[in-house]
Amino acid sequence: MINALGSLILALKIIVMNVDLRSDTITQPTEGMLKAMFSAKVGDDVIDIDPTTRELENQLAAAFGFDRGLFCPSGSMANQIALMMHVKPGDEIICDALSHIYWYEGGGPAANAGASLRMVQGDRGRLNAKMVQDAINPDNEHAAQTALISLENTANKAGGTCYDIDEIRSICNLAKSHGLPVHLDGARLYNAMAATQQSPSDYHGLFKSMSICLSKGLGCPVGSVLLVNDSDYRMARRIRKRIGGGMRQSGFLAAAGLYALSNHVERLQMDHQRATDLATCLNECTWVERVIEPETNIVVFFPKAPLDAVQDALREKGIHILPMGGGALRMVTHLHITDEAISYCNEILKNLNVMP
Ligand SMILES: Cc1ncc(COP(=O)(O)O)c(C=O)c1O
Repeated sequence: MINALGSLILALKIIVMNVDLRSDTITQPTEGMLKAMFSAKVGDDVIDIDPTTRELENQLAAAFGFDRGLFCPSGSMANQIALMMHVKPGDEIICDALSHIYWYEGGGPAANAGASLRMVQGDRGRLNAKMVQDAINPDNEHAAQTALISLENTANKAGGTCYDIDEIRSICNLAKSHGLPVHLDGARLYNAMAATQQSPSDYHGLFKSMSICLSKGLGCPVGSVLLVNDSDYRMARRIRKRIGGGMRQSGFLAAAGLYALSNHVERLQMDHQRATDLATCLNECTWVERVIEPETNIVVFFPKAPLDAVQDALREKGIHILPMGGGALRMVTHLHITDEAISYCNEILKNLNVMP
């Protein structure tokens, strides 16, 4: 009787549980966030009179030791503005071979900044000072002029890996000695800080610019902030306008960001624990070849079975995941992934029948 009930509950769960692990960008605004958005005081941010947008920009700038913030519609736009600001056509940007600016920004560095990328094979998405030193071109007319170093923390395609702050310091010191600016793609910087017990003040004075996404682990529907100093602010704002990123009553969106900074930062540790729980389970599954141990909220794993077969079998059970390229699949935990969802996934994963 109990067994029958158990099966019935499992069957019902299979029908009702929808677990979307495709990305932390799929979240819906919470009730509290929606309330904050609806009650935001707004103005026209293109003429710089939106008080809520200004508040968000100032809050993040102060936290990370910058003069100004610039609210942007997306992380890609914030990164691209930074590249356009720091380099000119023909210049070269040093970045890790797994960088988002290369893989997922539509060729933006070439199209927007006219730059080539020096793709360095780092350690799971992370560079070190020696790698950067070796990639800086000599001041020689035959070579592209190295003009920028771009780091990513956490490194998405590498499985959400985090930089040690001392490594960041070494890279930034090296860059300074060569007169080179460093940009940080911090789309998931709050995840990195949560995982490594860093605080925003650890980042003071290191980077020429930083982009921070609100629409990833922090759970906002839209928005990223580009942090810059006064000397770059007018240029950043001009470029944002030129590429169509000036938004009018953006305070409704910025209010979601302010809400997330107050309410969704501490909970990131839970996302990381849940990613670890998924990885532990995957490690025990006979149909899984290898799991990359997660450092934050992203689990990358390599199944023995064909990727399509795994994705389809999971989808049938209401679990949605994405391929990462190179034979890997990815699961990302976020605001809507509860402990119950993780137990459900683990049960399904353990019993998945995908081997030919
Ligand atoms: C590391 C990293 N940088 C930048 C972005 C771009 O953000 P958006 O999708 O808002 O353009 C993403 C998106 O996932 C990302 O993972």
